[in-house]
Amino acid sequence: MSATNEQAFVKLKNVDIIYGDNASGVKALEGTNLHVEKGSFIAVVGPSGCGKSSLMRLVTGLIPPSAGTIKVANKPVNGPLKIAGMAFQNPTLLPWRNTLDNIMLPLEIVDGYRKDLKRNRLKYEEKAYALLETVGLKDFAMSAPHELSGGMKQRVSLCRALMHEPELLMLDEPFAALDAFTREELWGVLQKLWMEKRFTVILVTHDLREAIYLSQKIYVMSSRPGKIVIEKNVEFDFPRSLSDTYKPDFVALVEELRNHISLERQ
Ligand SMILES: Nc1ncnc2c1ncn2[C@@H]1O[C@H](COP(=O)(O)OP(=O)(O)OP(=O)(O)O)[C@@H](O)[C@H]1O
Ligand SMILES: [Mg+2]
Repeated sequence: MSATNEQAFVKLKNVDIIYGDNASGVKALEGTNLHVEKGSFIAVVGPSGCGKSSLMRLVTGLIPPSAGTIKVANKPVNGPLKIAGMAFQNPTLLPWRNTLDNIMLPLEIVDGYRKDLKRNRLKYEEKAYALLETVGLKDFAMSAPHELSGGMKQRVSLCRALMHEPELLMLDEPFAALDAFTREELWGVLQKLWMEKRFTVILVTHDLREAIYLSQKIYVMSSRPGKIVIEKNVEFDFPRSLSDTYKPDFVALVEELRNHISLERQ
């Protein structure tokens, strides 16, 4: 995860994003460098509007950079990334599909799975059920999205993001719309999944406790145009528990990051 690691799994070099034309457009990112090692869990925090979601769209190939280069798994990103799974603030489940069929969706889209899905549907359904069990939703496989609570939908969204075993999981404020108890419960669910499968995770969040609880390293971005101004290693042992978040070292780190962001907002 170091800034000099040439072997990094996700590598951004001098990236700019300008929305609109170069002269009068909005510059969302400027000279952004980021290196994320394979299998690591990193978080990106920073003031609202600094370019975090833009960064996420860029890494997943949904928008191109205006300058600079992005590589994932040593390949330049020049279109939507198939090896990525994504979950955002508001889960976008298809309302006419039940939980199980929503989770199966990536397999119908991602090449390599599509053909196999027809022949081996049962095998994949078993996998979907296993994921649902990990997030405590096994009994809701046949429920429609409107029958689920916000937290349940977010769990389904997490399962869907993981169904095709992505090497890279991109999470943009995935728990922001949830109540504190559900959010904290899902930190545990996500941590467990990550410890088992060790996919690479980039998490964007405004919740500093969430960032510290989950990640190995935190990047703080400046206000717009965003670039990474601070890298902070989170040294606490895994698995982390909720009670860890109230220990003095943890609280001190929350405060330190909070102060950095306050300065950036000025
Ligand atoms: N499609 C777009 N067209 C024009 N401007 C955009 C577009 N998307 C984002 N922006 C601008 O780029 C800047 C960065 O937006 P972005 O959504 O990346 O910020 P963010 O850090 O995710 O903010 P938040 O924390 O509020 O989610 C903002 O000034 C925003 O207005
Ligand atoms: Mg955003």
